[in-house]
Amino acid sequence: MEFGKRAAAMEAAGHTVIQLNIGEPDFGAPPAVLQAAQRVAGDTRMTYTAALGLPALRQAIADFYLRAHDVRVDASRVVVTAGASAALLLVTAALVDPGDEVLVGDPSYPCNRQFLAGFGADVRLVPTDASTRFQLDSRLVREHWSARTRGLMIATPSNPTGTSAPPQELRAMCEFARQRDAWRVVDEIYLDLADGDAGGRAPASVLAFDDEAVVINSFSKYFGMTGWRLGWCVLPPQMVPVVERLAQNYYICPSTLAQHAALACFEPASIAVCEQRRAEFAARRRLVLDGLREAGLRVPVEPDGAFYVYIDVSSTGLDAMSFCERALSEAHVALTPGNDFGVSGAARHVRLSYATSREQLREGLDRLGGFVRALAAQGRAA
Ligand SMILES: Cc1ncc(COP(=O)(O)O)c(C=O)c1O
Repeated sequence: MEFGKRAAAMEAAGHTVIQLNIGEPDFGAPPAVLQAAQRVAGDTRMTYTAALGLPALRQAIADFYLRAHDVRVDASRVVVTAGASAALLLVTAALVDPGDEVLVGDPSYPCNRQFLAGFGADVRLVPTDASTRFQLDSRLVREHWSARTRGLMIATPSNPTGTSAPPQELRAMCEFARQRDAWRVVDEIYLDLADGDAGGRAPASVLAFDDEAVVINSFSKYFGMTGWRLGWCVLPPQMVPVVERLAQNYYICPSTLAQHAALACFEPASIAVCEQRRAEFAARRRLVLDGLREAGLRVPVEPDGAFYVYIDVSSTGLDAMSFCERALSEAHVALTPGNDFGVSGAARHVRLSYATSREQLREGLDRLGGFVRALAAQGRAA
């Protein structure tokens, strides 16, 4: 956020900054959603909806699980929320008691530990590295489990690395936690922006093998609707009334306009648009990985989804913070330091987001290449 503000200030001062720090797709909502929003704004009284969301939207999300991921989810378990953020807030409020220990991979999406700590959890950050694709795995979970561990929080694919937990590992971790009566929250916000398996099948939702996992998802990323503030979670049936009361108290209901418009996300034309965009992200990923290699920057694990690449900048002699600061001030490229996402290895990694056009990416990679070459020349002269 700080680098974003500085990039905006530099733009305002007349510089062209290539913003590779932004975690939101550049596409916007599918056209049918925009048309639906205009229609709905004209002819719908914008009253509150049910706290759990419009029944038709809950059903459409349940149907999407069957069509896209071959899992049967009853619509009564789907709760529409004000973005994945509200889903994370609701489920941590429902699940966490003060003093509960929760295992979270490091690096990971930084807000999770704030939600957990806010409800009194003892957040245990488990260091991960390239050997586990920067994800928790069953060995790490077993090693760090204690008598006070009550839950696991996983995002796959992950922000900041764009890497997924292999399905067999996800399954083993969930099974380990289930056997110990612990909950598992699996954030699948980037699932539909992940590569399929070798047989061309869509990436599997955790619900395919753990029906009682709490699943978080959103309209923000795959559907390109960050500002609409709409997401959902899939809950075990006994949690639904608890989360319903929490949602009623916290924010009454998600945006009525956004919910009506989001119904159009599931029309075949919208899914076709989103699938084209998924392919575009894959092409951008290739372009970025090639460009980084040419620039001499190492990517310890190639991402398989989302729109992030986690780069090891240690060969430049700079730590992540200095690298980001100097890349911004000297090359006018905005990136995000690993320090935003954890502690382990954070000072040697930076996150690059490729949620921007290929032209911008090419220009950003050119500038980064020049910047890294200049650093190397300064190193030789010193
Ligand atoms: C892993 C992860 N979870 C949740 C969120 C929050 O998303 P939303 O816009 O749906 O609130 C983000 C946003 O970047 C994210 O990266």
